[in-house]
Amino acid sequence: MQQGYEVVAVRCQPFLFTLNLTLSILSNFGAFFSLKFRLVSLHSLKYNIPLMKFFIDTANLEQIEEARDLGILDGVTTNPSLMAKEGITGDENIKNHYKKICEMVDGDISAEVIATDFDEMIKEGKALADIHENIVVKVPMTKDGVKAIRWFTDHDIRTNCTLVFSAGQAIIAAKAGATYLSPFIGRIDDMNWDGIELIAQIADIYTVQGFPTEILAASIRNPLHIVRAAEAGADVCTCPLSSILGLLKHPLTDIGLAKFLADHKKANS
Ligand code: E4P
Repeated sequence: MQQGYEVVAVRCQPFLFTLNLTLSILSNFGAFFSLKFRLVSLHSLKYNIPLMKFFIDTANLEQIEEARDLGILDGVTTNPSLMAKEGITGDENIKNHYKKICEMVDGDISAEVIATDFDEMIKEGKALADIHENIVVKVPMTKDGVKAIRWFTDHDIRTNCTLVFSAGQAIIAAKAGATYLSPFIGRIDDMNWDGIELIAQIADIYTVQGFPTEILAASIRNPLHIVRAAEAGADVCTCPLSSILGLLKHPLTDIGLAKFLADHKKANS
């Protein structure tokens, strides 16, 4: 059983297509121009999923608050490294921290299991899901992880399949019913491959195959990653606060505003 999106209802829509049009023009001077148009954002339209969501990728409460107050925040992702960075240790503290985040942000909050074997993952995931209805259990892309995602899906617990680095992993996670899939684009770029290309490939596959799993672009390192992930068909971007704030910045905005204010001041003094 897939999880509760309107997805299932619109699954048979016949209008599924990805258009890849390559127009090549040989100019008088022998230069070769190639224009490639790709319609990938149909994934979101087809499934009636709202336009790209913004999650913040941190366990830092001040940063979560700052992003929330911007009015653009749809959720939060954490991982064991991010929790450790904030000094949150011990079962009770970890649970309380997730509770605080859930009270601060009205959206999906990913909480990752530490266990690596199936039985322990289920036990831990159930406890995490019990904290709040907005908790999404984050499960690593391993054999036991996939089995656990299937189990959580069948028991109406939403999941985020993490540590995804290939299209094959994306297919398996979607088959198991993952709610979200987290390809790590920054870490792929670090290996000298193209993380954004993977997002585009998964978006194409999910569109063609009709998988309802939402693509959550993770391991974002800069504002351009967000822009390019949006272009490539990501349903969600989870970003550090610095990358979200980086989207706002342009020197011409600052120069233009300073000139408007100066002109206003001159005319009104
Ligand atoms: C989020 O869900 C991931 O755990 C996170 O984006 C990983 O980011 P990193 O590669 O910067 O550690």
